[in-house]
Amino acid sequence: MQVVRIQGRHPLGGLVSVSGSKNAGLPALAAAILTDEVVTLRRVPDLNDTRFMGRILVDLGCEFSFQAGTAHIRAREIGGDPFDGCVRQMRASVCLLGPLVARMKRVNMPLPGGCVIGPRPIDLHLRGLRALGCEIFIQNGLVSASAEHLTGTTLSMGGPFGSTVTGTVNVICAATLARGTTVIRDAAREPEVVDLCHMLVKMGAKIDGIGESTLTIEGVDRLHGASHGLIPDRIEFGTFLLLALASRSELELTKINPSLCGALLEVLAANGAEFEEVGDSFVVHGSRSNLRPMHLETLPFPGLPTDLQAPLCALFTQISGENSITENIYPNRFIHVDELRRMGANVSLKGPRAIIRGVTQLSGAQVVIPDLRAGACLYLAALVAKGESLIRGVHHVDRGYENFDEKLKKIGAVLQREEVSRENDCKKI
Ligand code: EPU
Repeated sequence: MQVVRIQGRHPLGGLVSVSGSKNAGLPALAAAILTDEVVTLRRVPDLNDTRFMGRILVDLGCEFSFQAGTAHIRAREIGGDPFDGCVRQMRASVCLLGPLVARMKRVNMPLPGGCVIGPRPIDLHLRGLRALGCEIFIQNGLVSASAEHLTGTTLSMGGPFGSTVTGTVNVICAATLARGTTVIRDAAREPEVVDLCHMLVKMGAKIDGIGESTLTIEGVDRLHGASHGLIPDRIEFGTFLLLALASRSELELTKINPSLCGALLEVLAANGAEFEEVGDSFVVHGSRSNLRPMHLETLPFPGLPTDLQAPLCALFTQISGENSITENIYPNRFIHVDELRRMGANVSLKGPRAIIRGVTQLSGAQVVIPDLRAGACLYLAALVAKGESLIRGVHHVDRGYENFDEKLKKIGAVLQREEVSRENDCKKI
């Protein structure tokens, strides 16, 4: 098991190259099985999650190679079911449901459980696939889905917390090979869904309304191979932007698309953040930003993404006055708050709202990362805290931020990974 030791308050500055999007890459890898021809994906981030998805594809019989950010996938002949436990190990493997049922006509897959950020049901995925004519049974913890022919229809992907992102992805994939026309209402409009649609169009899918909440998909008999470059990771971009502001440093972020983070940029600019686009780069002037308190809420795209809520909490500890953030997508996604408090943060929770009073001089502490985005929050807090922090659970960060430690070291962060055996874990730290 690895831990990371971070010495806080070292001056940061310099250039960060943002990676391709994890949440665009995982559905794109899954969608590659919709054709028996070669699909090439560029700018695939080298993460535990993308490697895990690659392993599942190999298990299904795909030819798969991954080098220097480029993945080649060929699902010439596939069979079997995604291996047991995969959905529990990586929830995003649920993205295989739609592609597998469309390509193989049947799939048995472990039902994904809840996770630390909430219950995370898949009822909307199943409702959408059933509407396309899929027979679905849930027994002994398995989802069994089958359909001799998928048939186009009109359906909705809306739910109590907005439209489901990976549910929309599953139904889009299934609809591309269905007979007739599918109209998807309340489709998630997240950039990762849009990116998948662009990739599918390159593969021969007929999709109208890309980027809108109603998609019309004309089913085709077969899809073909294609080459597609993934969009930049807007959550990684946002995380480094928030780090620059929290640490009052100057960072130049490259290989990004700021328009994917419009809601965040708008609210930060309105509250004193200074940044500018210079050529292809995005320069954050943390040292001259004078941030005022903010009261924000997470919303489906184009609103503020839930995946930035935790790192925003770290920034709020460094803004004078009362800040708040309401979590509308996963009402219980405040698992980072107890750990932030260990570092001295003044946070109170009122239902789905966190109220954070700053400025707090955080102090280094021993903390445990409970999930990916909570990890980003704790790294940010440790980087601005006085003294040393020792952080366990760093494998969560490796799931979603490519070369995070190396990118941080390059801009001046002082940190190091250490191996700790499980038995010695408590003793050593
Ligand atoms: N929901 C239902 N029923 C469903 C599906 C979802 O009630 O059938 C609820 C969820 O419980 C949640 C809300 O709807 O309250 C939104 O869930 P959604 O299905 O949109 O989330 P997801 O597709 O499972 C993706 C990202 C998450 C990101 C969310 C929201 C991937 C692989 N994951 O998850 O990313 O938080 O959309 O934008 O794309 C992360 O990267 O750290 C992460 C968790």
